[in-house]
Amino acid sequence: MKRAVLFLATILIVLLAGLLLTSFQASKKDKPQSSDITVPLPASLDKLFPPQAEQPVFLFKMLGMATPFTGIIVDLFENDLENAKDNFEKFKANYTELSKLVPEWEKYFPIEPVDKLGRTLISGDPAQVMPAYEQVGKVCSNCHNMNMPRVQYKYHWGDFQAITIEDPLTRQVVSFQQFMQFLDVSYTGISVNMNQGQIDNARKQLQGFRARFEAMEETCMNCHDTERLYYVDETVEAMIDELEEALNASPVDPKKVGMISQGIGMENCFKCHLVHVPAAVAQMISVK
Ligand code: HEC
Ligand code: HEC
Ligand code: HEC
Repeated sequence: MKRAVLFLATILIVLLAGLLLTSFQASKKDKPQSSDITVPLPASLDKLFPPQAEQPVFLFKMLGMATPFTGIIVDLFENDLENAKDNFEKFKANYTELSKLVPEWEKYFPIEPVDKLGRTLISGDPAQVMPAYEQVGKVCSNCHNMNMPRVQYKYHWGDFQAITIEDPLTRQVVSFQQFMQFLDVSYTGISVNMNQGQIDNARKQLQGFRARFEAMEETCMNCHDTERLYYVDETVEAMIDELEEALNASPVDPKKVGMISQGIGMENCFKCHLVHVPAAVAQMISVK
């Protein structure tokens, strides 16, 4: 009796382990493999984006394919099977065209799930169409997870590494990264001197910080052509004025100086970093 239970339990465990393993492998297969991300982006993409192309051809083709792809679902739920099939044919033609556009990526455009979707559309039964549609959707997201961000960083973001800035204090022309270090020295110099009770030095550092802050503002226009509403806008500029006032008060309240300084660090430095550092780092390390 005991042995039978043990035997059954063993079988159960083996079965369960097998199940877990297959579902684990299935979920692993759906996710982009990290090894794929370390493969550099295909060189043939260059001619599908500015400056080589006049327009972001690849992006426009993607958008062109996405409309009939979503259109299939729009029509299906309007019970308009005729147009759903029409959208499917348009989608398939776009898909096939796109699969040939970047030869290195042809393998990421399997045709079987698309053909399967076509077959389920003949029935017009949403219960059959939806699972097949989702399978095609996975083909899209599989490649998007792997490649969309780095394509954006390479072809749509300006290049932080190409930016140079003249430092107003040393008159050196430096890279963006080097300039950030200079900005940090002035910014941190205020608090360091405050903590040491060297208020005159703290005031001097603030003047330097102001000059460098203004120089940094100029760099925004390398990539943006509209006024910036965050990070360097008048609320942050008002904080710098407030900091100056606090440093010129007598006696100086170190707590107040610390608070305002922290506020600048949060509203200017930290929040701008949240948006821009991932792009800058992705451009620096070879994920392009
Ligand atoms: C082989 C890779 C690959 C496959 C497969 C793929 N895409 Fe894309 N797609 C991309 C890349 C890369 C971008 C980013 C292009 C850019 O920003 O210039 C993109 C961008 C897009 C965009 C624009 C998103 C935006 O607003 O920035 C849409 C929409 C889109 N794809 C739809 C689809 C659909 C729908 C499918 C599947 C039927 C699909 N894609 C399959 C690589 C792929
Ligand atoms: C190397 C290019 C580059 C530089 C330099 C740059 N940005 Fe950006 N920034 C971008 C891109 C790309 C986006 C996302 C798309 C967009 O909004 O244009 C963005 C988004 C933003 C956003 C959010 C969207 C918006 O428009 O409100 C803000 C705010 C912003 N940047 C502020 C700044 C400020 C302030 C500076 C200068 C201190 C700056 N950026 C410098 C490329 C850059
Ligand atoms: C455009 C918005 C933006 C603003 C505003 C900004 N930074 Fe940066 N900062 C960046 C980006 C982008 C990087 C990454 C640059 C790179 O590594 O090429 C960076 C990197 C840095 C670094 C790391 C430099 C290194 O050696 O890797 C420091 C330190 C720094 N910033 C300090 C500051 C301080 C202090 C402030 C506020 C007073 C500030 N930054 C404001 C965008 C910004």
